[in-house]
Amino acid sequence: MAGKPTIFVTRKLPEAVEARLIRDYEAILNPDDKLYSADELVEISARADAILPCHSEKLTAEVIGRLPDRVKAIANFSVGYDHVEVAAAKERGIIVTNTPDVLSDATAEIAMLCMLGAARRATEGLDLVRGAGWQDWSPAFMVGSQTTGKRFGIIGMGRVGQVTARRARGFEMAVHYTKRARLDGETEAALDATYHETIEDLLPHCDVLSLHCPATPETTGLLNAERLALLPRGAIVVNTARGALVDDEALIAALKSGQVAAAGLDVFNGEPSDINPAYRSLPNVFALPHIGSATAETRDGMGFRAIDNLDAIFAGKEPGDRVA
Ligand code: DGY
Repeated sequence: MAGKPTIFVTRKLPEAVEARLIRDYEAILNPDDKLYSADELVEISARADAILPCHSEKLTAEVIGRLPDRVKAIANFSVGYDHVEVAAAKERGIIVTNTPDVLSDATAEIAMLCMLGAARRATEGLDLVRGAGWQDWSPAFMVGSQTTGKRFGIIGMGRVGQVTARRARGFEMAVHYTKRARLDGETEAALDATYHETIEDLLPHCDVLSLHCPATPETTGLLNAERLALLPRGAIVVNTARGALVDDEALIAALKSGQVAAAGLDVFNGEPSDINPAYRSLPNVFALPHIGSATAETRDGMGFRAIDNLDAIFAGKEPGDRVA
């Protein structure tokens, strides 16, 4: 390749990340942070050797099929890559990478916030303070669930799951988990975590259930009515992974019946604008707008990790975080 490779950066990235891109590449930046349509993505990619997208860009098989041969890589600014049809990229010989590790701490923090916000009725509390509704205090007022010393269940004990388990241990919670491949004995002992072979085995042991697995065809809708019924009555559900893991109708029914006392959700089916309206109105839903990785440190880390992957690819080496 003559000259520096051209990278199409689909969203506005942190200053230090863009500075490194400008230094080492021809960078097509997006200073207005515009959300591009599929046609615009294809059109701008005509000038690019690689794309650096976020989960806001849906790189479907159709879009990938229309990318020019010039595009050699999709270096995601995200750990999740369900927005990319990996099989279609593979077929086109396009390398796909993600950004694991660097966002585990930030996402685990949001999982704790979601747990506490749900358990301690933060939505109702905020509404009371911000509206004119707070008129009284009594021992019966705003009583929620305590999490200290309770059981914290994790589906998907990968990098984020493990950091979240450690944070939950800080609340003296007993950690239970399930994972496709059981952790090795040393890691499991260090986390003081109890393994369950199936989701069904795990659920009765969860006062709080936190989802940490990727969205794949196999995990879509995994938290359904049958499984919600296996939780102890009054459990708390936390989702900081992907909305696709949850059957919304089932969770909303469980929130209305009291089978689930409250949910803390940072991710949704149909986000950002087309989420189930019940999530906007149910008092026992503590909802955040997909900000698990939204800290300055983490956003820098994600950008640098994506560039590390590009550096390897354009040096003819294997990138550290190749997913396809
Ligand atoms: C991720 O990295 O997957 C976060 O959800 C942000 O996209």
